[in-house]
Amino acid sequence: MHAITAANLRNAHGGESMAHMRYLVWGAEAEKEGFHNVARLFKAISAAEKVHATSHFRELKDGIYDALCASTAVFGLGKTSLNLQGGIMGETYEITEMYPTYLETAKFQGEKGAEQSFHYALAAERTHAALFQKAKRAIDTTGKDPDLGPIQICKVCGWTYEGEVPDKCPICSATREEFDTFAPLVYVK
Ligand SMILES: [Fe+2]
Ligand SMILES: [Fe+2]
Repeated sequence: MHAITAANLRNAHGGESMAHMRYLVWGAEAEKEGFHNVARLFKAISAAEKVHATSHFRELKDGIYDALCASTAVFGLGKTSLNLQGGIMGETYEITEMYPTYLETAKFQGEKGAEQSFHYALAAERTHAALFQKAKRAIDTTGKDPDLGPIQICKVCGWTYEGEVPDKCPICSATREEFDTFAPLVYVK
C-alpha cells in the first residue's frame, strides 16, 4: 500500500477510535444530566465510529508493525451542551478537511479499499454533525431532552439515520438486517 494512504488509514483509525470513546464518556454525562435521548444519540454514534475505526484498521493489510499515529481529536468534558459543541467540531473537521483530503489521496493513489472506507466514513459523519446540531439546538432553546426517534446505524458503513429502519442503506446498499437500532426507552407509568 502507498505510504501516504496507509498513514491516513492509521490516523483515521486513531481519530475514530478516540471519537468512539469520547462519545461514550459524553453519553454518560448526558445520562447523568437526565438527557436520555442525547445519551442514546452519543451511544449510537459511538457505535458508528467503531464501524469506521474497524474498517480503516482492516484495510491496513501490510503486516504487523509499530507506527506513530497522529490524529486530531477534540478533548474536554463539560456539560452536555458543550460536549455536543465538541461533537459538532470534530465531525465538521472530518467532513470539511480530513475525509475529503484522505478520499482524494486514496483515489489518486489507486487504493480502492481505502477509498471505500473513507467514502463510507465521510457520508456518515455528515449525518452525525446534523444530529448533534439538532440535539444542541433543542437543549439550548428548551433546556430539555430533545425528542429523538429511533437511531439506526448501518453495521457495514456506519451510516446513521433517525427514523424507522430503511429497506436499504443509501450509502453501501446493505439490507435492513444490517442495521442496529438504538430505540427510545419506553417508561411504564
Ligand atoms: Fe462521526
Ligand atoms: Fe451502509
